[in-house]
Amino acid sequence: MPLLIQNGEIITADSRTRADILVEGETISRIGTKLEAPPGTEVIDAAGKYVFPGFIDPHVHIYLPFMATYAKDTQETASIAALVGGTTTWIEMCCPSRVDDALESYRLWKSKAEGNGACDYSFHMSVTKFDDQTEGQLREIVADGIGSFKIFLAYKNFFGVDDGEMYRTLTLARKLGVIVTAHCENAELVARLQQELIAQGKTGPEWHEPSRPESVEAEGTHRFSTFLAATGAAGYVVHLSCEPALRTATRAKESGTKLWVESVIPHFMLDKSYAERPGVEGMKHVMSPPLRDKRNHKILWDALAAGLIDTVGTDHCPFDTSQKLLGRDTFTQIPNGIPGVEERVNLLYTYGVSRGGLDIHRFVDAASTKPAKLFGLFPRKGTIAVGSDADLVVYDPAYRGVISARAQHVNNDYNGFEGMEIDGRPSVVTVRGKVQVRDGKFVGDRRHGQFLKREPNHFQ
Ligand code: URP
Ligand code: ZN
Ligand code: ZN
Repeated sequence: MPLLIQNGEIITADSRTRADILVEGETISRIGTKLEAPPGTEVIDAAGKYVFPGFIDPHVHIYLPFMATYAKDTQETASIAALVGGTTTWIEMCCPSRVDDALESYRLWKSKAEGNGACDYSFHMSVTKFDDQTEGQLREIVADGIGSFKIFLAYKNFFGVDDGEMYRTLTLARKLGVIVTAHCENAELVARLQQELIAQGKTGPEWHEPSRPESVEAEGTHRFSTFLAATGAAGYVVHLSCEPALRTATRAKESGTKLWVESVIPHFMLDKSYAERPGVEGMKHVMSPPLRDKRNHKILWDALAAGLIDTVGTDHCPFDTSQKLLGRDTFTQIPNGIPGVEERVNLLYTYGVSRGGLDIHRFVDAASTKPAKLFGLFPRKGTIAVGSDADLVVYDPAYRGVISARAQHVNNDYNGFEGMEIDGRPSVVTVRGKVQVRDGKFVGDRRHGQFLKREPNHFQ
């Protein structure tokens, strides 16, 4: 059924217009004033509301075997949560361990997603070892529609690659025009610091941050940037959390390295005192890189406003209370991760745009347009234009609410952002022309999500 969204204020990364949007089939067919509705059209009144392009989360974990357990969400639970929160597309990390076969793992991740979720999706393919088979396998995965790789400089012996493997991955990526995303921490230093702390009897979650201090992240960021410069590959630092790493990345960008930076919503909103809470409350706030000293918040918000941080993702990765308690004896066994796919857009809007003076276009850029451009989805996704997919978020800035686990759709028994106020929420959300959320509630098709084939787009 055609859809006419009337009277809204359309906000993209670079424009602001009061106009109607006509959707026919899966795409936007017209944008203009006083558009006529063809017979049978559903009309949505967006007066007093913003209309944003569907938001894109460039970093989520849905299916994830990790730290002796599995992340809690299914494609269905996480995609419904994403849509209620305004995210219409995500890019999931496909994360085999070093002992797994890359191609088999890619097929496994894809099979978990296919036909099982409500929002559109793609994958970043993690390269967790580089042996004689890897190049052929990665070429096959790229040909299947994957335009980005992921490497981990952390998680020694599990996901982590050594410098030789990083070099080979970047060299291949350069040839293929693929962008490489990277978790930047020094795995060796983390392992040594963990051992030292535990030997001193420092086993609680409050020691997670000291085991991977800011310098360890800055070193990883510097090494990744150095390898990018040497190979000419394009790179993207995921979940950058602190000033020293930001300074390093900014210097690399300024010197011409093809480098982009993502920070994730927990690092803007939460600080290390959350992980210092006693017992399991602290464990719930363990992720890597860790929540940092609060002084970093303003630095990250300012860098986002200035475009030094390009995108905001979530690193959505839910583990429930019983899973977090796997680390009751030692913080190194606490499954790392904080969910956020449902809260990212509302928190960024509230504490960025509504209360923090963040330019509304930069907000749209960081949470939708830039991820689309960097990862080969633009202009199909990430904007509102004739011919683009009709992924639209009618956003109500007058809504007032408080985040609570009681109301969440994510499959978890707590919410890391519990009690935080929000100044707005998506009231209607469409994915390729289908209304998936109405009045803030999921009303759509749980199987509507499609795999998005992406072409490599980093050839220069
Ligand atoms: O703590 C985190 N970030 N968990 C998920 C794995 C990763 O490092 O992205
Ligand atoms: Zn990571
Ligand atoms: Zn991650």
